Amino acid sequence: MIQIQPSTHPASAEERAQRMTNPGFGRIFTDHMVVVPYKEGEGWGKGVLKAYGPIEMDPAASVLHYGQAIFEGFKAYKQQDGSIATFRPEANSRRFNTSAARLAMPDLPEAIFLEAAKALITQDQAWVPGAVGESLYMRPLMIGTEAALGVRPSNEYLFILMASPSGAYFPAGVKPVTVWISDDYVRAAPGGTGFAKCAGNYAASLVAQHQAKGEGCDQVVWLDAVTRNYIEEMGGMNMFFVYQENGVTTIATPELTGTLLPGITRDSLLQLARELGYRAEERKITVDEWRAAIKSGRMTEVFACGTAAVITPVGHVKSKRGEWSINKGETGPVAARLREALLNLQHGLAPDTHGWMKKIVG
Ligand code: PLP
Ligand code: COI
Repeated sequence: MIQIQPSTHPASAEERAQRMTNPGFGRIFTDHMVVVPYKEGEGWGKGVLKAYGPIEMDPAASVLHYGQAIFEGFKAYKQQDGSIATFRPEANSRRFNTSAARLAMPDLPEAIFLEAAKALITQDQAWVPGAVGESLYMRPLMIGTEAALGVRPSNEYLFILMASPSGAYFPAGVKPVTVWISDDYVRAAPGGTGFAKCAGNYAASLVAQHQAKGEGCDQVVWLDAVTRNYIEEMGGMNMFFVYQENGVTTIATPELTGTLLPGITRDSLLQLARELGYRAEERKITVDEWRAAIKSGRMTEVFACGTAAVITPVGHVKSKRGEWSINKGETGPVAARLREALLNLQHGLAPDTHGWMKKIVG
């Protein structure tokens, strides 16, 4: 059971309303957080919901030196009927434990993950925005906290759950992005941590993202580390390529090879697409195929997907291998339809035939 210790200084209704105007992504946080400690030999200790604020750590804490840090991201949505529900949190709990195992960190029971979410969303329900496209972004985190400089797994950890009211991830909203195919950097290599949501993957991506910006692009596209031919992901999102052939619409996404993050949005779209009458495939896709299929007109759209931005169309591609545009740089009908279908489901505007929504409040 999580012990509830409400904040003595929650934001006033006016302050909250003011901070929730144009929240953007990950800039504001609710009044509370949940913290659960772990000690080797004792297991997970008593969880506490308390005022959001700084945490104290020994400067020798292992996370600060050797980077034992994993995180997750899922969202709570205001439903049509005023209740609040989260989207596939069990899938995030499973992926959290896959990441934990890769970084030699302890398994966090799903019951603790879900109870923490319920406690925090219930306590801070006034912070859940109401408009379609807005939500309360939940950020679970686990870090190694033992003060020890030997290179070995920490014997102490903290699980922390925080919540951040969010609107559009990209400042321009759902406008198509321009991408830079990275030939100089890779995100993940076979045997590495690509399939895990660990902090180090993101640290290693920043210089490539910076290079993309320097080339006038919004995001970087990652290629496989071995052949540098296969497309893997876009920044922190999975990718889909849309083909129109003989009246059949196919969406194809790079297959999960161990170097890609298995996105929950990706998995959901594969299922939704089939229900909408599209063919959906997981397979290898090369940069050459991308360029040729755009040129021949077989490929009509490209988009990226993830929890934070849902679906973001790709409008232009730049690289050392050439430049091309997709659908004249405009959002295409398949991306728009899938985005609407997913958002409708998440906000309770369409029936939840998969049992993906987990009601938390109301
Ligand atoms: N790929 C990477 C590298 C990510 O960080 C994310 C975000 O979580 C995704 C893909 C999309 O995953 P999901 O749809 O589960 O948010
Ligand atoms: C996503 O939700 O798509 C993300 O990549 C999250 C990001 C802020 C790490």
